Amino acid sequence: MKISVLTLFPEFFDSFTSTSIIKRAIEQERVTFECIDFRAYTKDKHNNVDDTICGGGAGMLLACQPIVDCLRAIKTDSSVVVMMSPQGETLQQAKVREMISYDHIILLCGHYEGFDERIRDYVDMEISIGDYVLTGGEVAALTLSDALIRLYDGVIAKQSHEDDSFENGLLEYPQYTRPIDFEGKKVPDVLLSGHHENIRQWRLKESLRKTYLRRKDLLVNRQLTKEESKFLIEIKNEDN
Ligand code: ADE
Repeated sequence: MKISVLTLFPEFFDSFTSTSIIKRAIEQERVTFECIDFRAYTKDKHNNVDDTICGGGAGMLLACQPIVDCLRAIKTDSSVVVMMSPQGETLQQAKVREMISYDHIILLCGHYEGFDERIRDYVDMEISIGDYVLTGGEVAALTLSDALIRLYDGVIAKQSHEDDSFENGLLEYPQYTRPIDFEGKKVPDVLLSGHHENIRQWRLKESLRKTYLRRKDLLVNRQLTKEESKFLIEIKNEDN
């Protein structure tokens, strides 16, 4: 598993790669993570990678040559080139899951006003992390890298991400730690009962409740099991 980030600001990723779970994943070679400054590939005599916009307009655009040459230098048959852009497909957990099977992911970060449109002919997919515009693709590449790396084998316990929000199409159920009573707010009795089946049912129902209350949209296209439908009816009745 390898992630190569093409960026004009490799230092942006320093704290990401030197902190906590991501640091350990890199040290344990669960993932190879590299940043490549594509300015090193420019043929411009002033070392520029951008230029003014044809037809006029504010700001500068990233030019084709440095990025395309950089891609040609590092791409292999198993590389997938991903452009980080607000025009891309909005990132969802299901997409992250799909991407963890790729051997080599190249994340292309824009800056300034964006990319020369022709660069899109050299990428395999375009990903956005949400409907807002960032100053560059770095925050988006970092977000996607983090979401990917935590799913790689051995990085965190499988159980931890199997129950994550979105993994089964629902938001995660509420969780508690000690003390059992904090300022009169108590941990639900069922979680202290040691009864695994009751705990499973409670968690599923509370997961459905959170999703129903906060993200009804997630329930629209989800095929509910018999048990889930029963719980959802109960939740709706409790709501009235
Ligand atoms: N670059 C600028 N804004 C972005 C966004 N929302 N997602 C991905 N890349 C971006």
